[in-house]
Amino acid sequence: MTTTSAPLNRKDLFLRACRGETLSRLPVWMMRQAGRYLPEYRAIRRNHAFLEVCKTPDLAAEVSLQPFRLLGVDAVIIFSDILIPAEAMGLKLELGDAGPNLPEPVRSKGDVQKLKLFDPEIDTAFLPEAIRRVLREVGPEVPVLGFAAAPWTLACYMVEGRTREGFATVKSFLLHEPATFRELLHRIAEATIPYLKAQIAAGAAAVQLFDTWCGELSLGDYQEFALPATQEIISSLGGSTPVIYYTKASHHLLPAVARAGANVLSVDWRVDMHALRLKLGPHIALQGNVDPAVLFGPPEEIRRATQEALSALGGTGHIVNLGHGILQHTPVENAQLFIETGQQSLSQEAKPAANWR
Ligand code: CP3
Repeated sequence: MTTTSAPLNRKDLFLRACRGETLSRLPVWMMRQAGRYLPEYRAIRRNHAFLEVCKTPDLAAEVSLQPFRLLGVDAVIIFSDILIPAEAMGLKLELGDAGPNLPEPVRSKGDVQKLKLFDPEIDTAFLPEAIRRVLREVGPEVPVLGFAAAPWTLACYMVEGRTREGFATVKSFLLHEPATFRELLHRIAEATIPYLKAQIAAGAAAVQLFDTWCGELSLGDYQEFALPATQEIISSLGGSTPVIYYTKASHHLLPAVARAGANVLSVDWRVDMHALRLKLGPHIALQGNVDPAVLFGPPEEIRRATQEALSALGGTGHIVNLGHGILQHTPVENAQLFIETGQQSLSQEAKPAANWR
């Protein structure tokens, strides 16, 4: 573990944080940072449907760059959606104002076997192309992040068809047909591996797996179903590009989540990051974890919550982020305050959290 004080570019900062190094200034970005809270995003969406933006490299690149230009975030996540691979695997996908809808969901063994493995350089060529365009704009000193859903979270949408309370349909699939459900998770993993490799080949500095719904599972079911499929993806990526694994409401799962093989765990605001570091040790970096709702508070509260997150790990192996995606009606100036506060140098007094050593 080294302490760095020389000025670093954004990509160095990001990669060093992923590797667990101690930095005096941490990288900061926000999940869903390209989105509806930005008037510039809404202006593009007035003329282009959501999936059209995802599938048009110039538009996807432009929207990805908005938070970089407007807020100065330290990483550019490529604009896309976790459901893009579901469509490439053969499912119909609608993304309207009511959220995602898959009108022909996966409900049987036959449905699972119909799911295609696709060629990301052909069927989702717009995504690596958008990454290349963003890189041409920002140059090699800014990290561009690729992403995909973790298998369980994508399976939730594929089976439910849309987000519903309780996840009864997907859980009943898991309970009635565990072998077929495992096959579904495995097939998603098999499709996701080349999809992420294509993003890395296009220049993604790191990739994030979103497991937004893993907190719905018991520890036993997480370990039996969700975890092996996630491990399959991460181990197949080979280890040279950092993998960030986002899980939400996963307090009961975290020691198992840590076995997924990711370099960085992205956690929500329910998690005490300092306590988690003590439990997991220094080899797993952490990302997070300000409650996105805090950005609706007064400036002093935004500053306080951000500074608290910033100092939680003493600057060691830490990427500052929200605990979930930025909310739609967040005032832009509050997002700006979060970024600016997160980018401040850690003061000496803010460092004692390194006492886990
Ligand atoms: O982070 C970024 O800025 C990159 C883009 C990104 C989007 N979705 C754009 C988007 C990323 C990384 C995602 C991930 C995603 N998509 C997740 C995992 C993270 C999370 O928030 O839990 C999930 C579960 C989805 C599925 C999804 N896509 C939902 C549930 C919705 C509707 C809810 C909502 O916020 O509207 C979407 C649509 C979506 N994806 C929007 C954006 C900007 C809004 C669409 C619009 O412009 O109208």
